[in-house]
Amino acid sequence: MALRKRLKPARPPRPARRLPQALIIGVRKCGTRALLEMLYLHPMVQKASGEVHFFDRDENYALGLDWYRSKMPLSFRGQITIEKSPSYFVTPEVPERVRAMNSSVRLLLIVREPVTRAISDYTQLRSRTTPSAPAHALSSGHTPHQVSDAAKPFEHLAISPDGSINVAYRPIAISLYHAYLHRWLEVFPREQILVVNGDQLIEDPVPQLRRIEKFLGLEHKIGRKNFYFNETKGFYCLRNDTTDKCLRETKGRKHPRVDPAVVTKLRKFFVQHNQRFYDLVGEDLGWPE
Ligand code: A3P
Repeated sequence: MALRKRLKPARPPRPARRLPQALIIGVRKCGTRALLEMLYLHPMVQKASGEVHFFDRDENYALGLDWYRSKMPLSFRGQITIEKSPSYFVTPEVPERVRAMNSSVRLLLIVREPVTRAISDYTQLRSRTTPSAPAHALSSGHTPHQVSDAAKPFEHLAISPDGSINVAYRPIAISLYHAYLHRWLEVFPREQILVVNGDQLIEDPVPQLRRIEKFLGLEHKIGRKNFYFNETKGFYCLRNDTTDKCLRETKGRKHPRVDPAVVTKLRKFFVQHNQRFYDLVGEDLGWPE
């Protein structure tokens, strides 16, 4: 009886907003949204719903960590909070700022074959050239020039009139992954960054997710039962006890036909850049030459 008196009644666990323990840092158009939604199928994962752009936008960063925390979802102790803002990867100030928040944060970098990524980026910019869309387009960090450019064929934008590759064209520049990754590796040890294969995430998500669960120290929970292939969309859709959904129509767009000679030329151009990326990550992603 005396013992029973001394025991405090169990307090129900209280959710709180916590700074993210893991970030999807990019790369844009490589499946960052799909990855976040897929990880959210895990019962121990909570996600920030929008892209918060805390580390890459000075006006947000100036608001401080309390502001950032206020943008996070409620989570229970032991759950992992994840945020994704793809422009983190390419913004020079971001690695150092992330380290200042938490030097042991887990970083997820999803990549795709760079020419496909560039065409996907172009497709997105082009979809925003309708008169009703420019404000939205500009909020993605593209200049008015880049947005109006998107009305031109991809071939004319990616290849300069003298036949050289136009590396100043943003969709090409962002596909030069090594040029951005080296900055992250100056700040974080390699083991803290997991490279996710975005092409494989499209083909067969489960093996990639299994790697990520391990990397995040999560029990293996996401499996085949969580996916079904939607023939109309041409992509996997997601389900668990509370969710049954496909990604929005802006994810998995039909790409325009690109002259195969241009694709070949670009693939050749990327060979040495891809090799530099493989060298940095210590892994060959097997992109076509
Ligand atoms: P496309 O629309 O060019 O096919 P992000 O979220 O980083 O913008 O990436 C968008 C890309 O996610 C899409 O590019 C699509 O290929 C990819 N993706 C991966 N898995 C997907 C899924 N299950 N449903 C829809 N899109 C998916």
